[in-house]
Amino acid sequence: MTPRVDAIEALTTRTSPPGLVAPGPDQASLERMLQAAVRAPDHKRLRPWRFIVIEGASREAFGDVLATSLRRREPEVPEAALAKERTKPLRAPLIVVVAARLREHKGVPAVEQIVASGAAAQNMLVAAHALGYGGFWRTGAAAYDDEVKRALGLRSDDAIVGFVYLGTPAGIAAPLPPAEIASHVTYWTAPVGRLQEADA
Ligand SMILES: Cc1cc2nc3c(=O)[nH]c(=O)nc-3n(C[C@H](O)[C@H](O)[C@H](O)COP(=O)(O)O)c2cc1C
Repeated sequence: MTPRVDAIEALTTRTSPPGLVAPGPDQASLERMLQAAVRAPDHKRLRPWRFIVIEGASREAFGDVLATSLRRREPEVPEAALAKERTKPLRAPLIVVVAARLREHKGVPAVEQIVASGAAAQNMLVAAHALGYGGFWRTGAAAYDDEVKRALGLRSDDAIVGFVYLGTPAGIAAPLPPAEIASHVTYWTAPVGRLQEADA
């Protein structure tokens, strides 16, 4: 459970591996990842995040939930698609469903509670990478399906922000694209009129 890389290195080298195989994170590593998750910034410390860990044989049961929900959403769905949906949770040894339990708060709108929970998911992915594991974030229609939420013990007004798959990275990852920032960043200064006013 010793970190393999420092924080900046982990943040700038994290990527989604092509595959995830056993072993999944041991209990101590998983708890470290969850501790990293709950250090995410969180307006008013509402602690909106919920983490549901699915591992081992429970992944098969979750695959059944996904397939049943898909058939209800799309009654005509071909058998092959259902079979694929059923095996999705087997793509990694362990899944953490990250959800936000949304509450009415006059100072903290739902979007902030969802963003805080997303930051928790990201912290978990970076911590996994730092500890030598890999992870990828998935959503899809199942994340917005009330039946899936109910099966996970969530409420229909909870938001699933991600299915975070965790395990040992497998396969050859594509080279990381450059961390290009120039086209996404501007340096704002006061509007020209304001500057003239200040000079006067
Ligand atoms: C909220 C959210 C939902 C995502 N859902 C999916 C998904 O359902 N399927 C998928 O292929 N990628 C999904 N992604 C993107 C991947 O997790 C991944 O970040 C992307 O493929 C880029 O690869 P990288 O992580 O190596 O940069 C999602 C990302 C976020 C933030």
